[in-house]
Amino acid sequence: MVLKNARVFTFQGIITGGVAVDEGKVVKLSKEPESLRADEVLDAKGFLLLPGLIDAHVHMRDMQLSYKEDFYTASCAAAAGGITTVIDMPNTIPRTCSLKALREKMEEAKKKTLINIAFYAGFPSKLTEVKQMTKEGIVGFKLYPHDPFEEIDLANEEQAQIYFKAAAENNVPVSIHPDDLETIKKLQSKLKLQKLSDIEIFLGSHPAESERKAIAKYAELGAKTGCHIHFCHISSMESLAAIKKEQGRGVKITCESTPHHLLLTKEELEKLNTFAKVLPPLRSKNDNIALWAALLDGLINMIVSDHAPHSLQEKQKPFLEAPSGFPGLETLFPVMLTKVAHGDLRLEKLVEMTSSSPSKIFKVGNKGMLREGYDADMVLVDIKEKWKIDPEKFYSKSKFSPFKDWKVVGKVRNTFINGSCIMSDDEITAPKGIGSIIQIRH
Ligand code: NCD
Ligand code: ZN
Repeated sequence: MVLKNARVFTFQGIITGGVAVDEGKVVKLSKEPESLRADEVLDAKGFLLLPGLIDAHVHMRDMQLSYKEDFYTASCAAAAGGITTVIDMPNTIPRTCSLKALREKMEEAKKKTLINIAFYAGFPSKLTEVKQMTKEGIVGFKLYPHDPFEEIDLANEEQAQIYFKAAAENNVPVSIHPDDLETIKKLQSKLKLQKLSDIEIFLGSHPAESERKAIAKYAELGAKTGCHIHFCHISSMESLAAIKKEQGRGVKITCESTPHHLLLTKEELEKLNTFAKVLPPLRSKNDNIALWAALLDGLINMIVSDHAPHSLQEKQKPFLEAPSGFPGLETLFPVMLTKVAHGDLRLEKLVEMTSSSPSKIFKVGNKGMLREGYDADMVLVDIKEKWKIDPEKFYSKSKFSPFKDWKVVGKVRNTFINGSCIMSDDEITAPKGIGSIIQIRH
């Protein structure tokens, strides 16, 4: 297949020309695509061709949580949002805390997905499964210290050290949702005695200090065991300072942030109520500013959606009972492209944060760049098109978003997986199962 009349993004500059794809790989980037022989020629109409996005924090749900989202609907949402590879989170039912649960999930995903999926796991009850799950190709392990889901007690320092050491020996990272259970509990009981609104109790019991504490604690575990620690969805100024300090003493740390933590503040909670409820919570304007600075500075390694779909009924519960999180696969790219259109972010930086950097850090293979020999996971984007975000039109089962009605600039026209078009002008154009399961070699 040859895609001609494109503006092809490379880190060395944009090539006006096209790409040739054979057996799922980019075989040629050319200024004269007319000279390339092909069975099929597509016209890119002058739009910008970028590597497909790699979203390293996605709750695909499915299994017993398929009422919230399933592998098919999530992969359609990803395709619509220009995302060609996701890393799936393990806090499902059943939890991805055993080789058996992992294999079951992979099997279900293979049948339904349009895109590439790699998997996180939770730490297994049997220590020997750390190695087996690594061999099966997981990206790494994920921990929720504020809401532990493993059968083993990782709050026990000795136990945690054993598991982190095993992760280090198997060369896989441990990703942390940085929040601290003790701090939360203490604050919750104190705050509930005061005359506060539910929103104030929620914000007050997940302060930046709790995030910072968890960072210090798990960085120390990383230092002791040599394990690569990845901190998820960094939301505050204090956390950035803590990460910088820990890296300064040689701990191997990477981190991510999200469009909502970069662009929204807790003021949204007053307007949108549970629909803006997320963990970590949206914080202040000053945190937004610090996160942008850290993004431009290179301290933040990637931007992820933390796509966390829930049912409408769940989100309509009273504030403190409603689950946290909202969908993000269909908003990440347009809201970030809008920052590029407004001149606040360089396109190269965005591609680094959403494609090449997550690909390298999580070793997803020859992805994240348009380069000869790399997988032809690509998105064709009209960077000038203006449109309005309408959650009613989401492919995700969760049809709400804190970015509802945002006027954005930049629209994905086509998404390709291994050279096959899976989405064209908002329509899904490929059958279930065309995507693949990524098993990572560590
Ligand atoms: C996530 C979920 O719903 O699974 N919720 C959230 O608010 N981010 C869990 C998580 O990513 O911590
Ligand atoms: Zn998450």
